Amino acid sequence: MNLIILSGENIPFAAAEATSTLNLDTIKLDNRVALTSINKKNLNDAPTLAFTHSIHTLIFSTTRSQLKTKLKTADLNKYYEKNFAARILTIGKTSSNYTEQQLGGLVWQYIKNPRVNLSNPHTEFYFIFTKNRVYLTTQILHLQHNFHDRKAHKRHVLHPSSLSPKLAAGMVNLLKAPTKSLVVDPFVGTAGILIEAAILNYKTLGFDINSWMLKASEKNLRPYKNYKLKQADATDVKNYKNISYICSDLPYSKNTRDVNIKKLYASFFNVLKLIKVKRAVIGLPHFTQYKNLNYKSLIKKSKLKLKHKFKFYLHKNLTKLILVIES
Ligand SMILES: C[S@@+](CC[C@H](N)C(=O)[O-])C[C@H]1O[C@@H](n2cnc3c(N)ncnc32)[C@H](O)[C@@H]1O
Repeated sequence: MNLIILSGENIPFAAAEATSTLNLDTIKLDNRVALTSINKKNLNDAPTLAFTHSIHTLIFSTTRSQLKTKLKTADLNKYYEKNFAARILTIGKTSSNYTEQQLGGLVWQYIKNPRVNLSNPHTEFYFIFTKNRVYLTTQILHLQHNFHDRKAHKRHVLHPSSLSPKLAAGMVNLLKAPTKSLVVDPFVGTAGILIEAAILNYKTLGFDINSWMLKASEKNLRPYKNYKLKQADATDVKNYKNISYICSDLPYSKNTRDVNIKKLYASFFNVLKLIKVKRAVIGLPHFTQYKNLNYKSLIKKSKLKLKHKFKFYLHKNLTKLILVIES
């Protein structure tokens, strides 16, 4: 059994990203702790997960009151190599009521030839406390992301409506596209999504109607290989040939009248239907002034299948809907 510590800002999104990237059968959530079983081969894809903090092997799960008894009967030697440290993680509003030293002392009793190494341990025993459970694990992987270095203001050309690199990477992962396949963003903007797709080893293609945006995209994508950009209308089906995977954040503007946005979205969803898209991950605004813009009717009219829907609160004036769609 495995345990995944998900990022807390959107647990359903994080769980879906892990499920699609690691090909998981089932996942059981306890706050942002996900219990599952990861196939060894799929573990190779784990470093790409944007909304995962760490991945663990589960030794046991118990209640606080049973923790000491359970430690006595667990075969910790099976997980121990060379030296160890005990770590505590508390999830949500809870406390462990132990110190790492106390838990380390308990582990020590049950290990043959125990050695402690706090600064660079070979084996890290994690005691993960949620409101009702305690999980004992060893950590397999701690993900280190450098999304901050890729934030929009650090790119060659800046656009204020660009998605956060973390969300863009999560959206690309939800595509479930085989590596090296082509990921298309038909509303490329300044290429926030395609930069993440390129880093995740996909070929990329972007359309934009606006030539200034294409120049900006070209500058932002230049450090990455395998990209193509084209001045094209995203709502014209003639621009789409052999395209299976689409990831895009749709345009919105508070100045654009609802009716135009509605038309644009309807035409785009119709294109997704016509090209029989394999999978599309689409970001839409969830502005209150667009409450007439009903994603359900867009899906229904285009006869596409809605696989998932996530709500992302970004800031006071903007909540985003992320839809995962299939033909
Ligand atoms: C929300 S921005 C995309 C932001 C992008 N995801 C990023 O991170 O930079 C939307 C883009 O769609 C473009 N656009 C608007 N209508 C379009 C259309 N019909 N076809 C293609 N591009 C269009 C705009 O020029 C704008 O650059």
